[in-house]
Amino acid sequence: MTSSAMPPVSPVPEPQAAVDAAPGTGPVGTLLTERPPVPATTGPMIAIDGVSKWYGDFQVLTNCTTSVTKGEVVVVCGPSGSGKSTLIKCVNALEPFQKGQITVDGTKIADKKTNLPKLRSRVGMVFQHFELFPHLSITDNLSLAQRKVLGRSRDEAEAKGLALLERVGLKAHAHKFPGQLSGGQQQRVAIARALAMNPIVMLFDEPTSALDPEMVGEVLDVMVELAREGMTMMVVTHELGFAREVADTVVYMDQGGIVEAGTPAEVLGGPREARTRSFLSAVIG
Ligand SMILES: Nc1ncnc2c1ncn2[C@@H]1O[C@H](COP(=O)(O)OP(=O)(O)OP(=O)(O)O)[C@@H](O)[C@H]1O
Ligand SMILES: [Mg+2]
Repeated sequence: MTSSAMPPVSPVPEPQAAVDAAPGTGPVGTLLTERPPVPATTGPMIAIDGVSKWYGDFQVLTNCTTSVTKGEVVVVCGPSGSGKSTLIKCVNALEPFQKGQITVDGTKIADKKTNLPKLRSRVGMVFQHFELFPHLSITDNLSLAQRKVLGRSRDEAEAKGLALLERVGLKAHAHKFPGQLSGGQQQRVAIARALAMNPIVMLFDEPTSALDPEMVGEVLDVMVELAREGMTMMVVTHELGFAREVADTVVYMDQGGIVEAGTPAEVLGGPREARTRSFLSAVIG
């Protein structure tokens, strides 16, 4: 997991709590009936094919093959050190790999001719730690990459940022700095910042695991809403409630390999593999 120093979080009392009520309408999954079906005819948005990776002598990924179809939500779970973050970082070309192939929307990411900055600008990534710029206002955090990478004007970028802040229930905080927001609020800003780039796919690496428990729901609600709208998502999380209700596919990883994959009912309800069963009983308790 790459983690930069987290800006100080000062959960200031919220006079605008009513205005800024977290988005979503209730517990995870209550919106699912509105979710558009995954189109059956489209090719994979992400195709991971026989990927292996080594750090020196240590093999961190072993022959991983899986895919994410357009509009699909894939949850990746597994024990600490199993390679989940490494795999998701390979998808965004933040980590190189030595064997196999990954394509994103048909583009081979390891191809020397691929314009990686352009590809990355279309792949939204949200990490465990929010990685907002602590010295920039929320508005500037949201508009910087839009202006620098996409060439949008300041007005256009700020308007887009504000619309997305409204969507994640934080419009009234646009003028603040990250340190003045709670962890859950900062993570919702980080999601809005990724969405401002009009991503074709969103990658999440344990977006709620650094949050106080009472803030997990507000971030999951934003993610449920995204899924409902048909966003293609690959999500590393231990939030099995989210996986059960939102995921189309659950991938279980152990020791750098994909042990099994299937629907939430298959993998979480009746896992084939002993390793998956023992992980689930440890997580569920
Ligand atoms: N830069 C690195 N150099 C060497 N080994 C690394 C490096 N990054 C990760 N590893 C090792 O690779 C393995 C997989 O790490 P990774 O962060 O992908 O696991 P993870 O499944 O995301 O774990 P967690 O649930 O704790 O986040 C671990 O054994 C880790 O120690
Ligand atoms: Mg990780």
